[in-house]
Amino acid sequence: MSISETTRTELAELAGRYPEARSALLPMLHLVQSEEGYVSPEGIAACAETLSLSTAEVAAVATFYTMYKRRPAGQHHIGVCTNTMCALLGGDALWDAVSAHAGAGHDEVSSNGLFDLERIECQAACTHAPVMTVDWEFFDRMTPDEAIAVLDALESGQEVRSTRGPAVRGFRAASRTISGIDDDGLTAEGGAADALMMATTTAAAERGIPAADGGPASGDGPIGKVTLT
Ligand code: FES
Repeated sequence: MSISETTRTELAELAGRYPEARSALLPMLHLVQSEEGYVSPEGIAACAETLSLSTAEVAAVATFYTMYKRRPAGQHHIGVCTNTMCALLGGDALWDAVSAHAGAGHDEVSSNGLFDLERIECQAACTHAPVMTVDWEFFDRMTPDEAIAVLDALESGQEVRSTRGPAVRGFRAASRTISGIDDDGLTAEGGAADALMMATTTAAAERGIPAADGGPASGDGPIGKVTLT
């Protein structure tokens, strides 16, 4: 594959958003990943050309972060957090179930090309452990059965929604959104922080302890379960 002229124009647009153009490299890598499904040698070359960097400099960044895939990715990225809080609350069992059901291990793609599995690090969602992500949308407090139901729904082409609301759209679409080239109208999706997320801020407020500027604790956000339609 090659990088389209449209994408090259968008790469230049991203570079133009920063006082130092090379600061745009991370979103640019997400953008080329959205076009080809991974960060290909052509994608690296396009970023390097736009920023007047060497391909070695761009590759050094692309190989550092696990969110960039250096081989064709699966249609959906499935992340299972197995860091401390999630592990304590069932993350390892969740991973075992997802991995066995998909027939793939860490950093592997299922044989049908649908699922790209990754044992992910803490997603700062420990209040809702154990956490799974699909194309970086959160699936909170998952059980193995619920996780398998999500995979089955994706495989059968059903719409799948995060427990926080947004629909799962695929790895490429998620990469484009993360690049920030446009928001696809998604900035209004998802709910406010819920009571669990705000617990420490609420406790601090109740005790008259100044907290970081996080605004008032509403506690009325969604704590949902999996929605399959
Ligand atoms: S340990 Fe899993 S989200 Fe923090």
